Amino acid sequence: MRVRVLGSAAGGGFPQWNCHCETCEAAREGARARPRTQSSLAIRGGEGPWFLVNASPDARQQLETLTFRQVEGVRAPPIAGVLLTDAEIDHTAGLLLLRESATPVSVFGDEGIERALRRGFPVLAMLERYCGVEWQTLEPERPRPLEGSSLAVEPFDVGGDAPRYLSGSGVEVRASGFTFRDNASGGVVTYAPGLARLDDGVLTRLATSDLVLVDGTFWRDDELARAGISGRSARDMGHVPLSGPGGTLEALSRLERPRKVLVHINNTNPILLEDSAEREAVLAGGVEVAYDGLEIEL
Ligand code: MLT
Ligand code: MN
Ligand code: ZN
Repeated sequence: MRVRVLGSAAGGGFPQWNCHCETCEAAREGARARPRTQSSLAIRGGEGPWFLVNASPDARQQLETLTFRQVEGVRAPPIAGVLLTDAEIDHTAGLLLLRESATPVSVFGDEGIERALRRGFPVLAMLERYCGVEWQTLEPERPRPLEGSSLAVEPFDVGGDAPRYLSGSGVEVRASGFTFRDNASGGVVTYAPGLARLDDGVLTRLATSDLVLVDGTFWRDDELARAGISGRSARDMGHVPLSGPGGTLEALSRLERPRKVLVHINNTNPILLEDSAEREAVLAGGVEVAYDGLEIEL
């Protein structure tokens, strides 16, 4: 099984177009931090097809980095389908970029995500008029084999609330993480770009994986307030912060089996600065900071 981090930044990317925080300016200067595109992953079992996990607004340039065996014809998609952990804009806007597809696009997600993408951000109805969509409903905690692949995907609840575009709509959505199992290699990968709580179920799942790619959005709970950007805390936004008691770093440091990698990193997060004390603390905990193009074979 092979995993490629296509985009390691949270929504907005790094640097973010309208942001002049210390980290964004460092990414522009290119010395202490490298730029990153928005949250997305690709995964394949053996030589089977790639699947895209979350379709970011940067999908066009991200898909260009995938190597694959062209099947037949001039128009051959590099992916066999798209799996969605949630219905947030940064994980779904890229669906619109797939409209040139010569065949209907397979999109996998739970029923809440489908509701959001029909009633709040109606991208499924839009795509249907271009290339067509084959919607595939995933059930929580139920492994779903991916056709043509040795992989199965199993969604699990990570808490958090609905995207802001659904405010006042009454449409309910929950975010998921995914555990991928490869029945050829036996490898287990857990991907959770949004993690609103670290309960025992989630921790057990992480502890029994070979590789975990986990929400590294914010270093501190009050990161945006301290930067004068917003009054919303990390937890308000559905992200357990990395630092402090009960933080993600503490929990990840204790895990012995998996390789541990942080993804979905917000542009304000000081771990993006390669010479920062926060980056050093992450590495000291045996945890890695993802970058675009990081590829891991299991
Ligand atoms: C999130 O990860 O919390 C969302 O993508 C935030 C957003 O971009 O609206
Ligand atoms: Mn996001
Ligand atoms: Zn910034």
